[in-house]
Parts: sequence; C-alpha cells; structure tokens
Amino acid sequence: MGKKLKVGIVGVGSIYKTHVPGWQDSPDAELVALADINPTQLNKVGDELGVKLRYEKAEDLFANKDIDIVDICTASQYHAPLAIPALQAGKHVICEKPLAPKPSDIKKMIAARDKSKVLLMAAQHMRFQAASQALKEEVVGGRLGDVYHARGWLLRRASAPARPSYVSKQHAGGGACLDIGVHILDLTLWLMGNPRPVAVTGIAQDKLAKMPGTFLGKGNPIPESWDVEEFAAGFVRMDNGATLILEVSWLLHHPTESNECRIWLYGTKAGGTWPELQITTTNPTAKRHEDHRLKVSEGMEAHAAECVAFADAVAHGKPAPVPPEQSLDVGLILDGLYQSSASGREVAIER
Ligand SMILES: NC(=O)c1ccc[n+]([C@@H]2O[C@H](COP(=O)([O-])OP(=O)(O)OC[C@H]3O[C@@H](n4cnc5c(N)ncnc54)[C@H](O)[C@@H]3O)[C@@H](O)[C@H]2O)c1
Repeated sequence: MGKKLKVGIVGVGSIYKTHVPGWQDSPDAELVALADINPTQLNKVGDELGVKLRYEKAEDLFANKDIDIVDICTASQYHAPLAIPALQAGKHVICEKPLAPKPSDIKKMIAARDKSKVLLMAAQHMRFQAASQALKEEVVGGRLGDVYHARGWLLRRASAPARPSYVSKQHAGGGACLDIGVHILDLTLWLMGNPRPVAVTGIAQDKLAKMPGTFLGKGNPIPESWDVEEFAAGFVRMDNGATLILEVSWLLHHPTESNECRIWLYGTKAGGTWPELQITTTNPTAKRHEDHRLKVSEGMEAHAAECVAFADAVAHGKPAPVPPEQSLDVGLILDGLYQSSASGREVAIER
C-alpha cells in the first residue's frame, strides 16, 4: 500500500468527533492535524487524540504542503470562507452539511474545485446508513418503477441545538431548514434518483420560538440569540414531473418525543418506506396487495463511513461519493423555500 493521505480537521467543537473514527479506520488516510480558533478546545482535543500539528489559523493548515484532505466541521456560515481557500491550496475538501447556507456560495465552492481539479463533498452521512443503501438498491434495481412522488419529514417536539452555531443566522445562515432539512431533503432526493428540481413553494416559520413560555427539552429556555425558523414545509416539482413534500421542525406539538425522521417513496411498481424498509406492492396475477420488509445488516457507523468513502475516492481517482452538484440542488430548493415563504408564491429554481 502507498503512503496514506494526510487529513486536517478544521473546527473541533462537536461533530468532528463522529469523523475521527472514519479517519482512524480508513486504509487510505490518517488524521495528522487540527485547526480551531479556540486554543483551549484545540489543545484539549489535540491532547485527547494525540495529534501534534495544531493551528489556530486554518490558513496555516492549508499552507502545509503535506496535508491532502481538509475536513471542515465549523458552523455553517464559515464553510465557504474556509473551503474555498482550502480548495485553492489544492486540498481535497469534505465539509459538514450544508456545504453553505447560500447556493451562490456553493457555486463558488464548485468553481474552486474545478479550478484546482480536486474533490469536494458534503458530509451527508445519512446516505451511508445501511437502511438508506438498501432502499437505494431497490430503486436503482427498478423494483419501485418510476418514483413519481416522495414525502420526507424530520420532526422534533422540542429539540433544537440551542447554541448560536445553530440558532443564530449570523453563524448558521438559517434554522431547522438548513440544519435538519438538509439531511432529509438530500436523502429523499438521492433515493428518488436526484431528478432536477424546477420549482418550490413553501413556508418557514418561528411561531413557537417567538412565543413566551416555549421551552426546549429538559425545560431549557429558548436562547436570546435565536433569530431563525423552527419549522418549514415545502412542495417541490422536478423536471421529470415527480414531486416531493418536505416537513421539518425543531419545535412542534408532535406526538413523538424524539426525532420522527421518515421518508415514503411512491413508484409505479411499488412504494418504499425509510427507515422501516417496507416495500408495498401488488401482485397483478393474484390481484392482491403484497408487502415485505427488506433485511439489512448494520455496517460501519455512517459518519465514519462517509470519511472512509471520501478517502477511498481521493486515493483511487473516483468521483466524490456525494457530488456537490446534488448538494447545490438541495441548497437551491431550501433557498427557494425561504423566498417562497417571504413572497407567498411558487419560486422557479434555476441552476
Ligand atoms: N452530519 C451531522 O450529523 C451533523 C450533526 C451536527 C452538526 N453538523 C454540522 O457540523 C457543523 C459544526 O457543528 P458543531 O455542532 O460541531 O459546531 P460547534 O460550534 O460545536 O463547533 C464548531 C467549532 O469550529 C470552531 N471554529 C469556528 N470558526 C472557525 C475557523 N474559522 N477556523 C477554525 N475553527 C473554527 C469553533 O471554535 C468550534 O470549536 C455545522 O455545520 C453543523 O450543521 C452535522
């Protein structure tokens, strides 16, 4: 085996922890450097992981010629300002979701990737879950027929990440739509075969967050810095005539206490549910409805698996496992949903 690719993580707050096992288990890469503007956190994590190369300025990590892969794990508004110089320095970049809150910034990231001829990918770990891979295989194998409609929802009763990185527009760029909407929308579109979105109508609201007395799990208050939507719903039309309904919320009078995160696909031959993996179809000969469940065996944890897959793509000259053009479509839909919410009209989506 050749030399391992050298990885540097930028932003060692919370989510980086889920990437570390991937870099440790990858046959193609190794974690060698960390960067964070918070020196206390940087040194704490550096000591815990035994990583000696530590940078308080990400640009110093990008200037290190030995680094091959940069893994961006900062709050979302800082993804593009960090990813673009990293790509310009010739680094392959895996970046937490969303690639950027604004589609115009995702386009700039793609342009920087093209110029440097490197790989860029959003860390959409849900694609790497065993249930997602199994349902995708059904769709690709044609067993659902033409998937002409899908529903994707991720609803929480009172569970928002109550930190400025998520609930302040300055740091996050948006609310539930960008935090959890990105996950469920990306997965739904991917399971549908990534048809091209052409129009969206939707609503984004902060009714409960603004209401005095609203509290989060364990009775915690709504933070002062909260200025984003808690709830969004949308209807998306695709260029092949398919449609998608999206619902996301951090705060909702919803019966389940924790996450309700589900996708239903409707095809001409069968329907499929995620994550239950119930396939619903008909037997035309017997003239009866038939259901069965797909069986899956759990593989590597999904955040780790996405890092392993990215390193494999870089090492072996493959395309990025999550093409950023697909992340741009996700960004365009969510940006269109915000515009539609403000105007009260359907918004055309153009790349
Ligand atoms: N895929 C998932 O399941 C998942 C889950 C949670 C969060 N996320 C995403 O991960 C990202 C980070 O979330 P988090 O909860 O870890 O945030 P966090 O606020 O806990 O950590 C971010 C870290 O980045 C550092 N930082 C900020 N600006 C920096 C800069 N310019 N250079 C270097 N370091 C900088 C901060 O000091 C902090 O330590 C967000 O984009 C979020 O949407 C993804």
